Amino acid sequence: MDITTVGVVGAGLMGSGIAEQAARSGYQVVMREIDDDALAAGRARISTSMARAIERGKMTMEERDGVLGRIKGTTDLNDMAGCDLVIEAIVENLDMKKDVFRELDRITRSEAILASNTSSVSITALAAVTTRPEKVAGAHFFNPVPVMKLVELVRALQTSDETLERLRAFGESMGKNVVVAQDTPGFIVNYLLVPYLLDAVRMVESGVATKEDIDTGISLGLNHPMGPLTLLDYVGIDTTLFIADVMYEEIRDPKYAAPPLLRKMVNAGYFGRKNGRGFYDYNGAK
Ligand code: 3HC
Repeated sequence: MDITTVGVVGAGLMGSGIAEQAARSGYQVVMREIDDDALAAGRARISTSMARAIERGKMTMEERDGVLGRIKGTTDLNDMAGCDLVIEAIVENLDMKKDVFRELDRITRSEAILASNTSSVSITALAAVTTRPEKVAGAHFFNPVPVMKLVELVRALQTSDETLERLRAFGESMGKNVVVAQDTPGFIVNYLLVPYLLDAVRMVESGVATKEDIDTGISLGLNHPMGPLTLLDYVGIDTTLFIADVMYEEIRDPKYAAPPLLRKMVNAGYFGRKNGRGFYDYNGAK
């Protein structure tokens, strides 16, 4: 079965990016959010991203209109019935994700692949709540999805070779390079990224250097597009804390233990760029 229609559950930062990139790659997309306001916010994110692409000469207005025409927004999960592949991108909560997978299993055709964009939850546990565990895998994208060239596929214990190959072809058709990881906490990228980000927070805590100098050191010394504290704000302080907690719970290695400053920032509501305040202040920034 060819993939022609892609469902995306959740139109947050990642879900809207995945929906945009799938539609830009020619797929029909059904994007689902819990209410009209959340759906409108997802659509606005896609429009802003494409406006940026037009500004940079990467897209024409006709192409943009075509992309928008291929994305159907809905608040009803039953609208996923015609999808060949559904990618779940809701909040990082195992119980909520299990509920979505149970529902998708009931709603979609038995041939459809069900994938999760999770960066921390066990794909094996999600596959286990469906009647088609061999058709469940992880498809972990990176923010901003249209720009980042990677998709990390995650193989649950139950995932079949065929599912993985179909997802590989799908990822490549979206212009992404595909890597495959076993279902272990952090997969490939976050296994390495999370301790690095946490160490940068520890450096701020212990006063080794200012946050600005840590960021400048890494971006100029290693040619990274962003230093670690800017990247933390970009990924989300709350998201990073959540991922670190899940990884620590599983791996029990202190390098994944969140430093107190990260938790304090979340308690203070400093979530990063998304709400205007993290290590840096974004009020007034776009
Ligand atoms: N569509 C198409 N192209 C776009 C675009 C869009 N919506 N938005 C930006 N671009 C292109 C621009 O045209 C530009 O390309 P060019 O150099 O060929 O002209 C390029 O992307 C860079 O865009 P900008 O110049 O506007 O912005 P910056 O140069 O400031 O780069 C950035 C912004 C791409 C976010 C860069 O800072 C970056 O790569 N940061 C690191 C991002 C990162 O590490 N993401 C991964 C986070 S981890 C994650 O997601 C996993 C999770 O589980 C934690």
